[in-house]
Formats: sequence, C-alpha cells, structure tokens
Amino acid sequence: MKKFSNKVAIVTGGNSGIGYATAQALVKDGATVVVTGRRKEAIEKAAAEIGALPVVADQSSLSDIDALVDHVREQHGKADILFINAGVLGESTLIEEAAEVNFDNVMDINFKGAYFTLSKFVPVLADGASVVVLSSIMANVTKAKSSIYQASKAALNSIARTAAVELAPRKIRVNIVSPGPTKTPVLANSGWDAATVDAYYEKAAGEVIPLGKLGEAEDVAKLVSYLSDDAASFITGSEFVIDGGMTL
Ligand SMILES: NC(=O)c1ccc[n+]([C@@H]2O[C@H](COP(=O)([O-])OP(=O)(O)OC[C@H]3O[C@@H](n4cnc5c(N)ncnc54)[C@H](OP(=O)(O)O)[C@@H]3O)[C@@H](O)[C@H]2O)c1
Repeated sequence: MKKFSNKVAIVTGGNSGIGYATAQALVKDGATVVVTGRRKEAIEKAAAEIGALPVVADQSSLSDIDALVDHVREQHGKADILFINAGVLGESTLIEEAAEVNFDNVMDINFKGAYFTLSKFVPVLADGASVVVLSSIMANVTKAKSSIYQASKAALNSIARTAAVELAPRKIRVNIVSPGPTKTPVLANSGWDAATVDAYYEKAAGEVIPLGKLGEAEDVAKLVSYLSDDAASFITGSEFVIDGGMTL
C-alpha cells in the first residue's frame, strides 16, 4: 500500500510548475490524480508524462468548474485531496496605473475561481478530505506594484480559514501554503523576458533570501503532500510559509 492508494486527488493548474510537481508526487504515492489547465495540449502532455488524468478547464469559468466537478463525481465518485493551485501573477503596476482587464483577470483566476472551485467541490469531497490552497508570501507582504496579486492571495487566505471552520464537522481540513520565489515558468508566463527573470532570481538568491537559494517546485510539492496526508490530521486553517526565510 502506498500513502495515497485509493485516494482521488484534483490539482488545478497541473501542467506546469508547482501544480505539475505536486501532481507528480501524488501519483508516485499512489493517488489517482486529475490535473486541470486551460491549454489542452499542455495538460494532455503533462498528464501523460506523470500518469495523471487530464481535464481541460478554466478555473475562472463557473461552467468549467461545474463540468469538472461532474466529471470527478461520475468517474471517481469523490475527491480526497483538492489542491487549488491555478494562479497568475498578472501585470506589475502601481495602483494609479492599474487596468481593469488585469484586475479582472487576476481576481477571476486567483480569487473568484479558487472560491468557486472550493465551493462547488464541497459536496464531492469525502469526509476527512484535505484541501490545500496555494497562496503566496505576497498575501502578507506590502510591496509596490503588486497590489492586485497581493489582494487576490489575501482574499484566498481569508476564504481558506472560513472553509476550515465550516468543513471541520466533516473532518475536512483546509490549509494554506505560501511560497516565496520558486523556480517555475510563472514569471515567463507573465511576460517577463529571460534576462529579467535571471536577474530577479540572482538578486533573490544572492541578497534577499537568507538560505541563499530559490525554492523548487518539488519543495512545495512535498509540503502539499504532507498536508494532504493523515499525518497532518490535526492541522487545519493554518498557513505554511515556504520561502527560505525571506519574510523573517
Ligand atoms: N513560482 C512562484 O514563485 C510562486 C510563489 C508564490 C505563489 N505562487 C503561486 O503558485 C501557483 C502556481 O504557480 P507556478 O509558479 O507553478 O506557475 P506556472 O508554472 O505558471 O503554473 C500555473 C498553472 O496554473 C494554470 N492556470 C493558470 N490560469 C488558469 C486557469 N484560469 N484555469 C486553469 N488553470 C490555470 C496554468 O495552466 P494553463 O496556462 O494551461 O491554464 C499552469 O498549469 C499560483 O497560484 C501562483 O500564484 C507561485
């Protein structure tokens, strides 16, 4: 028996970065893992590589969430592990320069999408299930040019804590994982060019992060896997910062 044998896991945004690494870890530990993403080709490729099951879904679309939940109910009957990970950084601008289209995109994915993914999965979650939301240290950091992203993750943390209270009677645990800078395609996906990404990483590892290195997606995956396991059965409503000491 492996740790997650007979467990059904859902990983939103599973074709890249932290979602990919976590889906891979859950599969290795015996779970049946459904991964989602908007890009059909990318999600099918990732699923084939790691032995997961692909579902094309835009987590900011309520009809896509409904279809995903119906699919999981019909194919698997329940979900034991829900990892709400899909997210975007959006544009980095001052508040006075903010564009409505960026506000809506970031909030629709990181906040509204995460909220309704959780909301609509509740009836399908098995008693004793684990929910982990992927937040960010930015939820509790005040930094210029990041107001919308910071607010989207702060809102996510608020939802997670309320959900922990609401779902505790069913022994469903809800926890928050908040990484610092972690090497994934997220910056490139937000339009940063390679030289800017490299310079940011070099500065972060060299000057900003006490442990002197960036996080790896696998570091975060191990934490999510731990929180998804019965070993964490007394942990709910907690936030876990994984940032090499950056916010100390
Ligand atoms: N990397 C970091 O330094 C860092 C730090 C703190 C927090 N985070 C958070 O970690 C999470 C994962 O980020 P990552 O670094 O792994 O980034 P990534 O490599 O860019 O992966 C993001 C994933 O989310 C999916 N996604 C984005 N929008 C989606 C939507 N509307 N519906 C479904 N899937 C969607 C993407 O797939 P498609 O494009 O195919 O949809 C992709 O699989 C995000 O919530 C991010 O805010 C990252």
